[in-house]
Amino acid sequence: MKVKSLKLNNYRNYSDFRVEFSDGLNIIKGANAQGKTNLIEAIYMCSIGKSLRATKERQAIMWDKERAYISLEVEKKFGKSSIEIILSKTAKKTVRINKIPIKKIGELLGELNAVFFSPDELKLIKESPEDRRRFMDISLSQMSKAYFYLLGKYERILANRNKLLKEELSREKLLSTLSIWDEQLSTVGSKIILSRIHFLESLAPYALLSHKYLTSDAEELKLEYTGLTGKTEEEVKQKFLQALNKNLEKDIRLCYTSVGPHRDDIKVTVNGIDVRAFGSQGQQRTTALSLKLAELEIIEKQTGEKPILLLDDVLSELDVNRKKRLLNFCKKTQTFLTCTEFEGEADKVIVIQKGKL
Ligand SMILES: Nc1ncnc2c1ncn2[C@@H]1O[C@H](COP(=O)(O)OP(=O)(O)O)[C@@H](O)[C@H]1O
Ligand SMILES: [Mg+2]
Repeated sequence: MKVKSLKLNNYRNYSDFRVEFSDGLNIIKGANAQGKTNLIEAIYMCSIGKSLRATKERQAIMWDKERAYISLEVEKKFGKSSIEIILSKTAKKTVRINKIPIKKIGELLGELNAVFFSPDELKLIKESPEDRRRFMDISLSQMSKAYFYLLGKYERILANRNKLLKEELSREKLLSTLSIWDEQLSTVGSKIILSRIHFLESLAPYALLSHKYLTSDAEELKLEYTGLTGKTEEEVKQKFLQALNKNLEKDIRLCYTSVGPHRDDIKVTVNGIDVRAFGSQGQQRTTALSLKLAELEIIEKQTGEKPILLLDDVLSELDVNRKKRLLNFCKKTQTFLTCTEFEGEADKVIVIQKGKL
């Protein structure tokens, strides 16, 4: 898919802005603090329905204004569609697809598939398991609304279970109520885990290839889901129930559920070595990039549409060779790349200064 144009009103430092994009490589160039990341953030918001940067989305509304407006035109195999988002300081966020307001964010997923990459994402390998779970969850949600709804369901059951652990109940009452939540948690949780395992299995060959490509064949990348695993939903569910049972006393003490897909992780090895623990910073970054490029391929394979690629400020973090290879890879798909300086071939260069062209 391709983003044809973007319109912003009172969105961060953009008061009234409109731009058309090329189908190939779009370079968004400018000095620091001019609004390059803001632009990428706005596009990504139309993809996943929320901001990755702002903890409170209202922060994205221009400081002295009441409302922010984003409008974006997407072209897919079967025609064009429009996505609009209105953020308000006083009302709930509105999202419209082809002018029709949606009721749940899940309805937006799949309208614009995007793979996002920033210096923060380069930490995907280095940082906490939470980042790697988010990586799986966002990718899977773009490919499957069912997965997105499943996640929401799991979070609600988990919150209920944790709340129950905090309550002062008789042991008998606690155990009988817990067993109800445990049944639900393991049923939904095992579906999530199995989807993630399948996701990593299909991602692995692409990650291997893109990593070989980025490292000039020097490194072999492998992915493995860690935590609760199994071959079938039923097997995972039984393991989950056993683990909940085993951790019961601990959970009661901590008032928290200590096992489940909300604690699982991805183990990434390069030439047999755990990259997170032993990889160099450069290796960790390249690995993160390989995962993202593989994500791009897998989304295309699953949905039949190429996602767009958003690269915020990543060139400065890569060495010359990897930079060249990354840009080469970008030719396959519509790309938005922010930078302060750019030398090379671009299909469109958009120079941003204080939220203006
Ligand atoms: N809600 C907002 N209203 C107005 N300006 C904002 C808002 N949020 C951020 N900004 C401004 O946006 C600019 C930073 O934009 P950003 O896209 O991060 O820059 P860069 O070009 O370095 O990526 C800063 O000047 C900041 O003051
Ligand atoms: Mg920036």
